[in-house]
Amino acid sequence: MSIEQREQTSVVTHALAQHTLTDLRSVDTEQVAFRKGLVKLGRLCGYEIIDEWLESAPTEVQTPLTSTTGDRLTGLDDVVIVNVLRAATPFVEGLLKAFPAARQAVISASRDESAGMNEEGEFPISVQYVKLPEIRPEDTVIVADPMLATGSTLSAVLAELLADNPEPKQVIVLSAVSAPAGLARIDSEFPAAKLVTVSVDDHLDDDGYIVPGLGDAGDRAFGTTE
Ligand code: URA
Repeated sequence: MSIEQREQTSVVTHALAQHTLTDLRSVDTEQVAFRKGLVKLGRLCGYEIIDEWLESAPTEVQTPLTSTTGDRLTGLDDVVIVNVLRAATPFVEGLLKAFPAARQAVISASRDESAGMNEEGEFPISVQYVKLPEIRPEDTVIVADPMLATGSTLSAVLAELLADNPEPKQVIVLSAVSAPAGLARIDSEFPAAKLVTVSVDDHLDDDGYIVPGLGDAGDRAFGTTE
């Protein structure tokens, strides 16, 4: 199923998000600008998630002149943001501007690139560190990873997250750039998860990198080379 046909999926089309992603893609964007760009994109995606997936309710408000009815978000304080180390760190910094009251989870999961991608297009994943806050049935859990490539890392993260916790109200998998194969994998393994991405790119190369993509998001954000 293509992402366009899947319910519970959205592509962030906001012009500033697309503009920011284009800056991130550019090979000329150096480390500090890249990191700041991911922070900005995280904030914009946070606002889009609020608009699309959080509920609001009419509420009476007294202005200096009269009383009227306005809308207030109901789930803004029931949010858990999962930082998938390490590339998600600046992305999460931006998300936290949209969700200042969020509880944070940290999961370190990385793919073993030396083992290479298998014939199914998957990498072996090692999960090294997991620190989760309490997850409650009323929570919106946002799992943030700028790059949804094969889906191997996010699949391991979601399995870890949902293993011993009560099912949250909704799980949102947020990426800046995604590959069709990764989206399809998360869709088949976690059909209830909502998928939010700024771009669905063309394909994965033989090393599991997204094409056209933006390269290695962690290396570019942290100024490392491997
Ligand atoms: N991780 C990245 O940082 N970039 C890709 O293209 C794929 C995975």
